[in-house]
Amino acid sequence: MPDAAAPAAPLPLLVVRHVPWEGPHRILDAFAGVPVRGHDAFAPDGGPLPPVDGVRGALLMGGPMSVHDTAAHPWLAEEVRWLRDALAAGVPVLGVCLGAQLLAVAAGGRVGPGPAPEIGVAPVEVLGDDPLLGALAPSAPVLHWHGEVIELPAGVAPLARSAPTAVQAFRAGPRAWGTLFHAEGDAELVERWLAEPSMAAEARAALGDGAEARLRASAAALDPARGDALFRAFAHECAAHAARRDTTGDALRARLRALPVFDVDLPPFDPAGAPERPEELFAMWLLEAIDAGVHEPHAMDLGTVDADGRPSGRTLILKGIADGGWEFATDRTSRKGHELADRPWAAMTFHWREQGRQVRVRGRVLDAGAEAAARDHRARPTADPAEPVPEDWVVYRLLPDEVEFWQADRGRDHVRLHYRLDGGAWRRDRL
Ligand SMILES: Cc1cc2nc3c(=O)[nH]c(=O)nc-3n(C[C@H](O)[C@H](O)[C@H](O)COP(=O)(O)O)c2cc1C
Repeated sequence: MPDAAAPAAPLPLLVVRHVPWEGPHRILDAFAGVPVRGHDAFAPDGGPLPPVDGVRGALLMGGPMSVHDTAAHPWLAEEVRWLRDALAAGVPVLGVCLGAQLLAVAAGGRVGPGPAPEIGVAPVEVLGDDPLLGALAPSAPVLHWHGEVIELPAGVAPLARSAPTAVQAFRAGPRAWGTLFHAEGDAELVERWLAEPSMAAEARAALGDGAEARLRASAAALDPARGDALFRAFAHECAAHAARRDTTGDALRARLRALPVFDVDLPPFDPAGAPERPEELFAMWLLEAIDAGVHEPHAMDLGTVDADGRPSGRTLILKGIADGGWEFATDRTSRKGHELADRPWAAMTFHWREQGRQVRVRGRVLDAGAEAAARDHRARPTADPAEPVPEDWVVYRLLPDEVEFWQADRGRDHVRLHYRLDGGAWRRDRL
């Protein structure tokens, strides 16, 4: 049982290799910053695959064996079982070559010998709309290296084909893709594979004399940037899955519960010494926030209501305090402008996290006039003095009848001081 208070580590990407020379190659470039959990099926001490709910997605690479070689490679059956669970759980999967064949079997399809091995660089044609395969549409040159072919289960349509092979790519379920070809193929990968004697022999058997030279030459036609886009789309699916998992039900509750609040040095606040007027205490707190390096201390949330009494809020910048009012500037034709025209009341909330402080200001709102609007507009950092002030620009002034100052305390003995306008004079009460 994980400790609920411990920050959850980001979910890893599972990368399954079936032979040492068929790794993810450039696919992991799309997963910068993502932890990778490698699983080498060929390693005698590889251990079991992780639970499907422990990964953000799975990348299953190729290998020279057939999906049917389960006697020699019992892990093939384990992978098919794992893929079935992953499909049921909606875990993103990308199977490449043997990985695609295993996914096809897990999804209820069949894999069997093709008419001849398809080895070398040749285009695939993309069929239909797909967030991953779209990166290769309408067609792209890719690296092929397979003997067996895929027969899809009923209801699953191919997403790509090549001249000799009807099923080059497919999508099994909402988030599982298989590509028989290698979109990660580039000149470097071709070199690496030709350096592996069993692959060089396979190439010679399929392509005859000069196979290596021809493969090297054809690698120049590859366009790996197209494949990179496909892998970025897959990384996006994996990130979305991780976010879904981390924000569902108890997982999010536990993460939120583990977040610290008021975990900073909090300034003291003694309401007994507070000034008579709220704008004076506000000015003191605001200056303390500025001096303490609070981020955007002049940003606040402004709540207004529409004619039906429905509230809306947004973040604005405080422009100043004048004549006992808190000023902000905006466009008269904005939603808040319309709402204030109908209902000239608003509530402001300042939150200075670094000090555990909140100030709530509530009251009537008036238009501070054309001169205030012009002064504000000209003071903008990007202002052009020759530019006329737009007639809809307005400075509003909130004249409060209530202001509440709230100081957090680590021992949860928070201090609240409430100012209320009572017959023209300010009353102060501790809440
Ligand atoms: C930090 C921050 C400061 C902002 N300052 C202002 C501002 O001073 N004036 C303004 O009109 N909008 C400002 N905005 C944009 C508003 O939040 C809001 O999106 C916009 O005014 C439209 O709101 P409305 O449709 O409710 O009228 C700011 C947004 C942020 C995040």
